[in-house]
Amino acid sequence: MAKPIIFSGIQPSGRLMLGNYLGALKNWVNLQKDYDCLYCLVDLHAITLPQDPKELRERSYEGLAVYLAAGIDPAKNILFLQSHAPQHAELGWMLTCHTYMGELSRMTQYKDKSAKQKNIGVGLFTYPSLMAADILLYQTNLVPVGQDQKQHLELARDLAQRMNNLYGPLFKVPEVYIPPVGAKIMSLQAPTAKMSKSDPDPNATVFLSDGDKEIEKKLKRAVTDSGSEIVFAPDDEEKAGVTNLISIQAAITGRKPDEIVASYAGKQYGHLKVDTAEIVVQCIKPVREKYQALLDDKGELDRILARGAEAARERAETTLAKVKDALGFVARH
Ligand code: TRP
Repeated sequence: MAKPIIFSGIQPSGRLMLGNYLGALKNWVNLQKDYDCLYCLVDLHAITLPQDPKELRERSYEGLAVYLAAGIDPAKNILFLQSHAPQHAELGWMLTCHTYMGELSRMTQYKDKSAKQKNIGVGLFTYPSLMAADILLYQTNLVPVGQDQKQHLELARDLAQRMNNLYGPLFKVPEVYIPPVGAKIMSLQAPTAKMSKSDPDPNATVFLSDGDKEIEKKLKRAVTDSGSEIVFAPDDEEKAGVTNLISIQAAITGRKPDEIVASYAGKQYGHLKVDTAEIVVQCIKPVREKYQALLDDKGELDRILARGAEAARERAETTLAKVKDALGFVARH
């Protein structure tokens, strides 16, 4: 029996950090056994906000290098750039024409992002239709997305159903994929907020590119609380800092939080921080080293992207040809 298809899109914008790695990437490495996975670096989505071309290109390579370094195998998964498969833009347009203004106006991410822009590109508004195209082109069964993308995925489902009702069965209706262990990693400086790559406080976030010394420094400065009790209490804001350090250890080592807490009986926050730093250093070091080696070999990255694009285009074209025919476009002979 064919494996279920998973599709996920990742914006090639900015550096990846520990939260991405423990929250999503590690899961994806496990998925490759049981699912047929496509991971798309969504450069067409990236330009919905102003981009520096040089940086966009560099970050696209960096994005690919991080996924490979984390253990995503290009022989088992399809890794590709969105702009290398023109079917995304084509189906994106067709779906844009079937999306209602009201649906897009309700998107909370649009409201947030547009509030921060002076000139708002139309693409920022129609972006969810393009995201639906990404997913529907591959007859995707499951889409691993965070809370912030659920509304967009809901639109993709609605569009699949709408198109199927109008034109006959064209698309699989995708479901959201909820990962089995979603480690939620919080800021080291304000541990009630999620760790974020765009945090203005440089000590709040551990990046996958950080050196050992830098990681140690950041973890030693991690905010805890004025008490001295080492507990795992996800619902207690006061204990958010300590809980976060335990979560980080648990996500990396696979040990149970309670077991980790028990091992700190009679110990202080200092011990917890030093140990967590050591565990994070050991976790990130091999990823960083592999990542750097990959980035030094752009030729190999280009070859991987070419293979990914070829596989993606072939699949995408099968769906797109059906859609064009159903919509009444004359076939090109
Ligand atoms: N919108 C997603 C984000 O900002 C990225 C994305 C684009 C995506 N296309 C997708 C995610 C398709 C899942 C499936 O993070």
